[in-house]
Amino acid sequence: MGRKILAAGNWKMNKTPSEAAALMDELVAKCAGAKNDVLVCPPLVCLPAVIEKAKGTNIKVGAQNFYYKDSGAYTGEVSAAMLKDLGVEYVIIGHSERRDYFKETDEIINLKVKQALANGLIPVLCCGESLGQREDGVTFDFIRMQIKIALRGVSADDVKKIIIAYEPIWAIGTGKVATSEQANEVCADIRCCVKGLYGEEIANDMRILYGGSVNKACAAELFAMSDIDGGLVGGASLKSEDFSIIANA
Ligand code: 13P
Repeated sequence: MGRKILAAGNWKMNKTPSEAAALMDELVAKCAGAKNDVLVCPPLVCLPAVIEKAKGTNIKVGAQNFYYKDSGAYTGEVSAAMLKDLGVEYVIIGHSERRDYFKETDEIINLKVKQALANGLIPVLCCGESLGQREDGVTFDFIRMQIKIALRGVSADDVKKIIIAYEPIWAIGTGKVATSEQANEVCADIRCCVKGLYGEEIANDMRILYGGSVNKACAAELFAMSDIDGGLVGGASLKSEDFSIIANA
């Protein structure tokens, strides 16, 4: 099992292009030679500046969203091909904020996963239960449903490229981190679900991240767990000092 830890930053709707460029100057300096792989996902309009700053460094760049159609009359949207042409390598798909605020369904997420792969982008596929679902004891069932629908029609060759991020909704932006055991048992169950769909080798090689209030203090313990291969970090990814610690955790 040669899974390398990935520290991924989801900047969400923060930073103007000039602020993003300034943050990148700090990150490039502080994350140089980082132990873990490093990915940042800035807002769409910051991508050109961030990609420019990331050139020749160890920092990879991802987008937070796109629309699943090839092109056409979809005012306000951007396509996977546009992101790829810009130099984007990764894209977050199925984040709970997009599911919740922008009504993205499992079916839409499945279309996005396939469209990202068809255009050479690496999906960072998010899943995660609400507090109510956890309390009702349906966490594993719910997440397996999310994963199975998101991966519908995805070939074994393509699924190898995907990164999954487990983000319990109750832990996002709340400062309430899942315990390492809670996070690990769900990541392990996701791996088990992938094993059922694609076999042991693919499941063992798949990178599965934890997200939800990851910070510089808890990252090392989380990343040391058997089935957690890094973090998808929101708030703490906006502070270069904190994120560089996570990039080395
Ligand atoms: P926080 O780290 O701010 O809780 O955000 C997590 C998240 O949603 C990353 O995608």
